[in-house]
Amino acid sequence: MKHEQYDNSYNFGEGKKYLLVTFGCQMNEHDSEVICSILESLGYTAVFTAEEADLIIINTCAVRQKPEDKVSSLLGKFSPLKEENKDLIIAVGGCMTQQEEAAHYIKDRFHHVDIIFGTHALPRLPMHLEAAMSGRTTILDLEEDYADRENLTAAPTSSFKAWLPVIYGCNNFCSYCVVPYVRGHERSRISANIIEEAKTLTSKGYLELTLLGQNVNSYGHDLAGDHTFANLLTDLNNIEGLKRIRFMTSHPKDLSEELIKAVQQGENICEHFHLPVQSGSNRILKKMNRGYSREHYLELIEMIRCSIPGVSITTDIIVGFPGENEDDFLETVNLLKTVKFDNAFSFIYSPRKNTTAAAMKEQLSHSDKEERLQRLNQVQHAISNELNLQLENRTLEVLVEGPSKNKSAMQTGRTRTNKLVHFPGSPELTGKLVTVKITEAKTWNLTGEMKGDSN
Ligand code: 5AD
Ligand code: SF4
Repeated sequence: MKHEQYDNSYNFGEGKKYLLVTFGCQMNEHDSEVICSILESLGYTAVFTAEEADLIIINTCAVRQKPEDKVSSLLGKFSPLKEENKDLIIAVGGCMTQQEEAAHYIKDRFHHVDIIFGTHALPRLPMHLEAAMSGRTTILDLEEDYADRENLTAAPTSSFKAWLPVIYGCNNFCSYCVVPYVRGHERSRISANIIEEAKTLTSKGYLELTLLGQNVNSYGHDLAGDHTFANLLTDLNNIEGLKRIRFMTSHPKDLSEELIKAVQQGENICEHFHLPVQSGSNRILKKMNRGYSREHYLELIEMIRCSIPGVSITTDIIVGFPGENEDDFLETVNLLKTVKFDNAFSFIYSPRKNTTAAAMKEQLSHSDKEERLQRLNQVQHAISNELNLQLENRTLEVLVEGPSKNKSAMQTGRTRTNKLVHFPGSPELTGKLVTVKITEAKTWNLTGEMKGDSN
């Protein structure tokens, strides 16, 4: 795939190798696939060790402190490589570097970094690489120009499932979250472009697409006409050959009945909602600026479960938000027990610069937050296990992802409800839809026997 503006004469990466390290969410993984496509169009080829690389790019995450710390530690490790190979180019991009303070910290602390770029700079990456190869000053690009990304293509790592962004940015400003600052305001992609991309991917043999956005439910509000996310899903559902449509992340405040209906009626739309609740306490939800109550959230769950039999529901939880007391925490535990999520991704609250929650008084100690996380996880693990046990003896459709990491005679895949399934089978099944009878359920995965091949 060539990028028009950097066509043949610009393939200055010919014969050169790149290593790309990605942190963070699915949107960042997708951005990395765009970076791969740009680099490959310039002639670069991928490698998997830093020692072999002529170019190292780190795509960073800023949502919590931990991934930021990992970037600093990686950059420290890469420093000796630059001493051995003066031509090595090191670039750091993504959400962490979109923050002015973090970008300058990297520039001042790690002199071996050549390019620091933010989340909006992907179209300008070739220009920066070319400049870095001939110059010695650090290039800093934190422009917030929301450059049109429609001309940039991604190079998906898989040949049967792909990410498909539908809306960039976030307008919600939850008080703990750095995303609106580093990804900008919401920009919906034109539906015709999304549908076109989905059709192209399907014609290349992709069976599963995951629609991406920080808040997919607000898709379309910034476009002319009355596009809704539900309309978009219904249009995609009609694409011949596209077997599975997933979407994430849904925001409870914008989840409509129309969307639930679209999932109920769309036979290719997977029965899975990732619906982050963050807390079960109304007092904390208010301080988080989430825009819904515990009661409203429970009503949504009821509506989803009544409309879509067999649906799976997962969530995100933050423990130890400023001012969260034992009663607030117990309300979250109680919510987990009431809803019975298939899975909950729980995080310790991590103060992020410039967010309103970081300035709140009553910050909890790390040990208190850690202790709550352990208690919450224990409750959730038992629930996940209990729900998975209900799947024993059921025969489910599985999209095979490839040989299991630990046992090569086993294949691993996912159900429509996004459960991980292991079963004995050959590697040729990769990328195929099969049916598997579940013989054993555990907290994190299911084991079964293949019954048929539906391709
Ligand atoms: N601290 C901890 N977790 C956070 N998340 C977002 N910001 C923070 C933060 N400052 C979590 C939320 C969100 C998920 C992607 O990351 O639960 O849903
Ligand atoms: Fe962050 Fe809230 Fe936007 Fe999600 S909806 S990205 S938590 S501000």
